[in-house]
Amino acid sequence: MKNYFKNAKFLTTDFVPFSKRGNAWGEHRPALYQHTELVPCDGIPFYFKDFEIKKVEKSAIYFTALGCVDVYINGARIGTGEMNPGWTNYNKRVMYLTYDITSALKKGKNRILAVTAPGWYSGRISGGIYGYKSPSFAASIVSGGKEILFTDKTWFAAVGGEVRFSDIWDGEYIDARFPSYAEMSIAGKSVKDKKKAIVFEYDGEITPFVGPEVRERSKLSVSPASLTVTDGTEYNGTYYGRASVCLKNATLPLTLKPGQKLTVDLGQEIVGRLAVEAASVKGNEVKIRYAEFLNDSGDPDRGNDGPEGSVYTINLRSALGREHYVFRDKNKVEFSTRFTFYGFRYAEITAYSNITISKITGVVVGSDTAETGSVTTSDKNVNKLISNFFWGQRGNYLSVPTDCPQRDERLGWTGDAQAFSMTAAYNADVYSFFLKWMQDMRDSQSESGGYGDVNPRVSYCNSEDACAWGDAGIIIPYNLYMMTGKTKMLEEHFDSMEKYIAGLISKYGMSGPVPRYGDWLAYDWCENEFISSAYFVHDIDLMIKMSRALGREDRALHYENLRKKAYAYFKKNFLKGGKPVEKTQCNKIICLAFDLLDESKAVQVADELEKQIKENGDRLSCGFLGTYNLCPALSKYGKDKTAYNLLLQRNEPSWLYSVDQGATTIWERWNSYTKAKGFGDVGMNSFNHYAYGAIGEWMYRYMAGIEPGQPGFKTIKLQPRPDLRTADELPEGQENIRFAKASYKSAAGLIKSEWSTENGFVYKCTVPNGAVAELTLPAVGKKVIVNGSTLTKKNYKITDGKIIINLAGGKYEFIIK
Ligand code: BGC
Repeated sequence: MKNYFKNAKFLTTDFVPFSKRGNAWGEHRPALYQHTELVPCDGIPFYFKDFEIKKVEKSAIYFTALGCVDVYINGARIGTGEMNPGWTNYNKRVMYLTYDITSALKKGKNRILAVTAPGWYSGRISGGIYGYKSPSFAASIVSGGKEILFTDKTWFAAVGGEVRFSDIWDGEYIDARFPSYAEMSIAGKSVKDKKKAIVFEYDGEITPFVGPEVRERSKLSVSPASLTVTDGTEYNGTYYGRASVCLKNATLPLTLKPGQKLTVDLGQEIVGRLAVEAASVKGNEVKIRYAEFLNDSGDPDRGNDGPEGSVYTINLRSALGREHYVFRDKNKVEFSTRFTFYGFRYAEITAYSNITISKITGVVVGSDTAETGSVTTSDKNVNKLISNFFWGQRGNYLSVPTDCPQRDERLGWTGDAQAFSMTAAYNADVYSFFLKWMQDMRDSQSESGGYGDVNPRVSYCNSEDACAWGDAGIIIPYNLYMMTGKTKMLEEHFDSMEKYIAGLISKYGMSGPVPRYGDWLAYDWCENEFISSAYFVHDIDLMIKMSRALGREDRALHYENLRKKAYAYFKKNFLKGGKPVEKTQCNKIICLAFDLLDESKAVQVADELEKQIKENGDRLSCGFLGTYNLCPALSKYGKDKTAYNLLLQRNEPSWLYSVDQGATTIWERWNSYTKAKGFGDVGMNSFNHYAYGAIGEWMYRYMAGIEPGQPGFKTIKLQPRPDLRTADELPEGQENIRFAKASYKSAAGLIKSEWSTENGFVYKCTVPNGAVAELTLPAVGKKVIVNGSTLTKKNYKITDGKIIINLAGGKYEFIIK
């Protein structure tokens, strides 16, 4: 790849990022925050240059930015990317994008203009880890094979334009009375306060963009489910009272008067922003506050932060998550913010003068990964849960896999990412998304091999080596290798993984990574040191497999030896009589999921786990780590009935509990909100935190039964586990799932798997041509009919109550009687 940044220099300004200024945004002051207003500042930096073209030839732009950039040529925005070039460890690397711009250029005078916002570079989110510097820009234009333009000291820079303030956490202030960047990108157009751009050498690497771009995902756009106009508050017996409704179920167009608020409910929590089509008078300012929930009563004892029916924002902590827009004139416009995003279901719109709103759209912004999986069942609540984990992924895969999209965090938390990674890989093609994030992990890996707890790192969260968090650097590459069969990530990442393991040994001997977060947010605390030691053995097991996948037998043998030592440590310290000493669910789950016990003991421990769950009222008691391994561990030992008891449980804690409390995404806590008690611990309470959505993996692998036999589904394991609980086995209030179906676009082709017990047991599947599958069905009868013909016994095996049949590519329908 030719280096187009040999000549191009980075351009910058003397702009001081908002995050550095001594205002409220520069500090963490949660208690005060939600009462702070966004104020207009002096705009954001942009860079431009006029240039002549004699003949329009095939042309491309190579561009990058420290910060987030939008590039305009001759009045039009280039490309469809958002928040480009994405978040990397800018101290080490920035990625460049390449777009064809042939049709944007014209013969004669042209202008290119790039507007840059602090974004992840020098916005509050970075905590100054890259220094508090002006966002900057570099580009090169190649036309007819020749570099015709590159950023250098002949370019101009200015600070201003319609975006007066921009920050990922806090939002954006747009004043349309100032010239737009599109307008200013017209050749010859005068620009106020322009100066010669400051040129500097970037000392990191500039490498090609990896991964899906962040985009507006228009197919996922959401229209409001309801609109409510309120005016002031009224007494309802609580401290904050109730927002007085003056128009329920409002329809558009509507005119909002000063003092009124329009509460938009999208009916679905999304990540992105609103696009509002509206008209008003010049200088009228509209404010939008984004929120995940509405206050339910006005009662502070239920965690309310305002009147009943108003937006609940205290859980955003210090993030302001809002938007201001000032009208330029009386013409109708559609406005939305550019260099920020919000995690929200609700929005509250207020204005100082009348504003007529004609359209509102919930615009979804995220890394544009193609969805590859689907799951549905006969149970509408389970279907809602499925929808919730899909939305969790759509919202939180935004340049990096974030923990949450709304509060003053939105970081690439490793533990959450690894817990959810298998579900994610079924749901969508996330390979290149993680190629990029593994690059981020390497770029943030310390000299001693440590992977950051978050990647890229930030100054206020810069620890490393956390057990089950740092291990994402081992677990995710392995999971994606299994799901895709591709070895690129392993090749790129292998040395780094070796460095991580070697670093752990030199720092902590055989005890494994640092016990820090443990079974995060569990109801029942599992000994942290146990988890570290177990994850260490698990890491090494995966290293053995990945070494072999790369043909590195020498390393596989090395890890086999190491495994013996790590396992001896684990056994000595945490097992007694071959079983875990500690008694939480999580101890057992991890032993079973990571194959840490002899088979006969594992069977006993699986029985004990089942009993323990039963005694706990058919409920789990684990947190992030136990939960993602729970149902797979049960099903591995044939305890599908217990897995169904948990899946369909509706009491706290359980997946359907949050569905019953109104969840439209996966929540950080099992009880983030309860109808009985209101809002959970505000110190940390996100309504879009996908970790518990990892139940999706079990649904694909076991409930519907689609699992890779060999990496990349070269062979397919079809192992549907229908809900065979008898009437007296059903926990009170539960019903059976009567059918489940899933599909997955694998590397080998489209796989479908579905079962129904509605009219006897019927199972249908599609095995892609060229692939082979081993199907295991429950022996619910003696006669097996396939595609209308009865199978003779020599065509299948029955072992342990299971029927095993080998299938070539094709469509099948099995009836077992
Ligand atoms: C994040 C988590 C993360 C945890 C680790 C939280 O603030 O939101 O999801 O895994 O910290 O402690």
